[in-house]
Formats: sequence, structure tokens, C-alpha cells
Amino acid sequence: MSKVSLNNLTKDYGKTRALSDFSFVSQENEFVVVVGPSGCGKSTLLNLVAGLEKPTSGSVHVDGENITKLQPNERNISIVFQNYALYPNMTVYENLAFPLSVRKYDKAEIKELVEEVAEKLEISSYLKRKPKTLSGGQRQRVAIGRAMIRKPHVFLLDEPLSNLDASLREKTREELIRLHNSIEAVFLYVTHDQVEALSMADRIIVLNEGVIQQVGTPEEVYYCPENLFVAKFIGSPKINILPTNIYNSFFEPINLCCDDSLCVGIRPENIMLNTDNPDNDDKNGVITLIEMLGKEFAVHVQIGSYSLIASVPAHTFNDSFRCGKKVQCMVDEEKVIFFDVESGERIQKNSLHL
Ligand SMILES: Nc1ncnc2c1ncn2[C@@H]1O[C@H](COP(=O)(O)OP(=O)(O)OP(=O)(O)O)[C@@H](O)[C@H]1O
Ligand SMILES: [Mg+2]
Repeated sequence: MSKVSLNNLTKDYGKTRALSDFSFVSQENEFVVVVGPSGCGKSTLLNLVAGLEKPTSGSVHVDGENITKLQPNERNISIVFQNYALYPNMTVYENLAFPLSVRKYDKAEIKELVEEVAEKLEISSYLKRKPKTLSGGQRQRVAIGRAMIRKPHVFLLDEPLSNLDASLREKTREELIRLHNSIEAVFLYVTHDQVEALSMADRIIVLNEGVIQQVGTPEEVYYCPENLFVAKFIGSPKINILPTNIYNSFFEPINLCCDDSLCVGIRPENIMLNTDNPDNDDKNGVITLIEMLGKEFAVHVQIGSYSLIASVPAHTFNDSFRCGKKVQCMVDEEKVIFFDVESGERIQKNSLHL
């Protein structure tokens, strides 16, 4: 059982504050995904936990021990990078064995551990090959194997799937979830891909400009985003953000409303479109674009000066949806989220006296 506690971690590079007062305590063996846009401080965070960088202030604890001053090789932590970073002149077997041979494990033990890891990651048949003869996905599995062979308490993964094609990414994603279930370690997984975050995490940390925006389960960050940044960053197609006056003009008005200090957020799947002879013409939107996304269609609708996206499940999509068609937009009021325009913070509905 392992647990990570990060306390007020701050990292400055000259005048750039890459990470700001970052505090987080994991559950035992939790799969934690840190998600945020490029440059928000994700790799900086992992480097601080791995000991590859020193924090400007704050501390890192694993299983109750303060490891902030320990060297990387004194920490029971492994890191997997985006670009595999395998030794090109070593075979797969030697790459996997390397962390053990530098620690002077005996040969029989190394062999046993390499074979165990190779089997778990389904790379047993490549053990004699050099990395350059492997595909990207196979190389990344070797890199993951090399990181897990020491049975680390903390497993750091820095965008490990972003060099893989879409289908391999999906497969490796599943493998990583299975791997996490089969070993006792905290996973700290960094990505800018919100789909990866939602599908893999026990809990997600949303980061922007070095500052935590929200910590929560995938359901919490998706359905109850704490601010506009999280609402817009998580979810695809993106959440619709509308001024209250536009909302009131085109949807069934909510009695809040005409409050300019608020805006409303509606997930595309919560908008229903009625294409059957909508009667009140003033309240109709117009379909401007339709995108087929597989299990759903993203239907873009112009309402006044705003364009919104509604997700229409493929099984309910029909010929009545076409560009130029007038539609009535409807939403279940329960599903509408309110934000303060200025601060971007979500406003609890019960404080609005609807
Ligand atoms: N060694 C460094 N020297 C100076 N500035 C740095 C250094 N490393 C990172 N930074 C800066 O710190 C900020 C955070 O960088 P970081 O690499 O942690 O972002 P990231 O979230 O991992 O981005 P990406 O998704 O592009 O990998 C950026 O503004 C970056 O320019
Ligand atoms: Mg990075």
C-alpha cells in the first residue's frame, strides 16, 4: 500500500512560476491523473516528485516519509516519459534488467523479474530484440516494464501515450488500467488529453498556469466543474457557455435571469433539438453545421449571435436534421450550470433563489 502527500509545492524557474502552492494527498494506490494545457506545470510536478528538480518551496512525502531532499535513485519512484527513452544499444531484456543490474541484483533474480514483467506486458517474445526493431507501442511497453520492474511505490507517467496512434493508445490505456489494478503503487499520470483523464482516473487534478483548478472524480469534474476553466477544458464536444439573455431568449426562460453577472453552461448532450415545425419563430435557432462523430452527431445551431453545439445520439438522428433547418432548443433545467462571469466560479443553484 502506498500513499503520496504533496505539500505546498512551488517551483520557480527564474521569473516563471511553473507550479504554485500545489497540495494534494492521494488515497492508497490511487490512479491520479493530472490534466491541463501545454505549459501548465504537469512535467514540472512529476520532476519534483521524482527528484529530478528541487522545489523552490514545499515538500514531497511518500508513505509518511519526507523524501524532498533524497536523490532520484534513493526514492522508490519510477518515471515513464513520452519518448520512451530506452537504451538503443541494449536488447529489450537488457533494458528491462538495467534498473536491477545497477542495484546489483543477482542474475537469477533479474531473470525471474524480467520474465514476470515481460509476461504481464506481453513483450516476452521481443526480449532479444533491440528497441529500434519495435513499434512505438511495443517500445512504450518496454519503457513501462523497465519502470515497474523495481516495484516502485509511486509510478510517474508523463504523457506516455501521446506518441501512439489512436487504436494503440486505446489499447495501452486499458493495459495501464489493468496494470494499476495488479500492482500496489500510486499512479501519477500526466496528460493534456481530457479523454484519457476521464477514462483512467480514480481522481483528476485539473491544472492551469501552475495552479490547481479542481480535484475530483471524473464524474465530479465533468458534471460539477468548479469554474469556467474546468467546464471548458473537460468534455468533448465542449460545453456551451451562454449569456443569460441569450439563454432566456431561445430556451424556456429560467426565472433567474437577465442577471448579467451570470452565464449558463449546458453540456451538448443535454440540449434537445425539436425539428417538428417549431411554432414560435423568434425562439428558433438554425442548424449551421453537422459533424458525424461516430455514436453521436454534433449539431451546430446558431441562436442570435451565439453558436451552440447539441449532441444528437446516432440512433435518434434522422433526415430532419439538416443545415438551414429551424430548430427549437430545449434543456432540462436541472442540467444547467451557472457561473459568475467575472470570477469564473460556479454558482450553487440554491444560492440563486430560482
Ligand atoms: N528548465 C526550465 N527552465 C525554465 N523554464 C521552464 C523549465 N521547465 C519548464 N519551464 C517552464 O515552466 C512552465 C511549465 O512547464 P512544464 O514543462 O511543466 O509544462 P507541461 O504542463 O508539462 O507542458 P507540456 O504539456 O507542453 O509538456 C512553462 O512555462 C515552461 O516554459
Ligand atoms: Mg510536459
